[in-house]
Amino acid sequence: MKQQNSALSRRGFLTRLAALGGAGAVYHGLTTLGLLAVPPAYAGIPAYPAGIGKGRRVAILGAGMAGLTAALLLARAGFEVKVIEANRHIGGRSLTVRPGDSYAEAGREAMVCRFDDGLYLNAGPGRIPHHHTAVLEYCRELGVAMEPYIFASRANLLQSDKAFGGQPIQLRRIKHDLRGQLAEMLAKVPDPAALDATLGPADRSAFLEMLREFGALQSQGGGLVYRGSNRAGYAIPPGAARTPGTLNPEIELKALLDSDFWKNGLFNDMVDYWQTSLMQPVGGMDMIVQGLLRAAVPGGRTVRDLVVTESPVAEVANTATGVRVVHANGTEVADFCISTMAPSLLAKVKNNFTPAYAGALRRIQDAAAFKLGWQATRRFWEEDDQIYGGISWTDHPVTQIWYPSDEFFAKTGVLTGAYNNGATAELFGRLPHDGRVALALEGGEKLHPGFSNWVYRDRALSIAWQNMPHFAGGWQNNPPEADPDAYFRLTVPEGNVMLAGDFLSYWWGWKEGAIRSADLAVEAIVARVGAARQ
Ligand code: PHE
Repeated sequence: MKQQNSALSRRGFLTRLAALGGAGAVYHGLTTLGLLAVPPAYAGIPAYPAGIGKGRRVAILGAGMAGLTAALLLARAGFEVKVIEANRHIGGRSLTVRPGDSYAEAGREAMVCRFDDGLYLNAGPGRIPHHHTAVLEYCRELGVAMEPYIFASRANLLQSDKAFGGQPIQLRRIKHDLRGQLAEMLAKVPDPAALDATLGPADRSAFLEMLREFGALQSQGGGLVYRGSNRAGYAIPPGAARTPGTLNPEIELKALLDSDFWKNGLFNDMVDYWQTSLMQPVGGMDMIVQGLLRAAVPGGRTVRDLVVTESPVAEVANTATGVRVVHANGTEVADFCISTMAPSLLAKVKNNFTPAYAGALRRIQDAAAFKLGWQATRRFWEEDDQIYGGISWTDHPVTQIWYPSDEFFAKTGVLTGAYNNGATAELFGRLPHDGRVALALEGGEKLHPGFSNWVYRDRALSIAWQNMPHFAGGWQNNPPEADPDAYFRLTVPEGNVMLAGDFLSYWWGWKEGAIRSADLAVEAIVARVGAARQ
């Protein structure tokens, strides 16, 4: 395989180190080169000298993760902070919907949550990866209890109309039969050294042994073959006495290829930001927002006291001395403004930005995102399918169904019955709620025949983020790559206006990006104030 030069030279360096000083030297070398180190953790919630912001005012637009964390840091540093939120709800896309709660897409009837008490739907974000150290550090410091969010269970299902007569198949069968068959193919390669220059003839037997473990291969006729394995599960499970169990029949590679499972779901738990298990706050994603709102700031106040709600912004203007922000409940004359609004929405607010900046704002357009959740009449996925958490995937527009990661064996629970983005989310977004429910029932039936009998149709909640007032969509897919010019222009303050939000980070679509970008906006303000005082 082709190696990058830097990797080769590192490897050469380490080999030489080993020759000189043994394993200890290699370990030290690895650490020095940054090859072993886990990326640095977030060094706690940033703290600035308490009085540094004294006499300075900052207006923050938007009370989501970016706005609230910026407010906390600035208020603690002595700035006078006002967070201006357009909606009644505080928390931005961190929306957890509980019985009695309501929300409405623009121009539509309000959705009212009719779940049983104690149940909830995370209508926005629902999971946090282990390496999102900033979010997790906030959770730790704010006392937000966390529990596992199960992303993938081997009992989850994959369904495609293109294969297996449309029958849902347990993920373990697909994953392990595919792996076994690929391993068998590789075991037939006569000279592995021809595939990878770092291998020599002496490595052949280790290579084959590794493949045997990797793919659950067996010896046959002097070679290694895949003939099914218990990794792929049983058609008749093993039991007591004379019941050894019967393995599932092996799935042909051709059928696996036809199924398109490899395009939708099969490898998702290998992505950097998704893993087999992630984390979620106990009791709902908005527990993080609640923790932030309770956080103490100078003057005997909390972050909550800094927020004004239901106050859409009408104007943002740079002035000779700072900024002027006109909103429904008043006018703020401040030294700085941090806008966490979707850039395309900020562009529509009356402003005196330079054309280049306004143009860059307009070019970051959010993608649609759709979720539907409903209460089940019983936990059929546990009772009938042995599914305890995780996600099943289908090529039906619902795309995926999330099972609850908590409250196993309870009488009922909430399923995320559809979650998708882009064109599919636009399709759902155009439908009336009833139409969304009908489509989601159809998708549910594909994965769980009988599904329609086991969910309360009148306890469904749907949300198309692109239709929510004061949001532009779910998130913007990869602005740094998609439009680097616009992205980098927006990282530079426009006069006294700075931006923050997941869109201004390489963690777009995640709270982590919102927090990290807010940190930078606060740093920029503190630096300017510090410079002015010197
Ligand atoms: N964080 C969201 C999720 O896990 C949205 C997202 C999806 C962000 C994919 C980046 C990539 O579903």
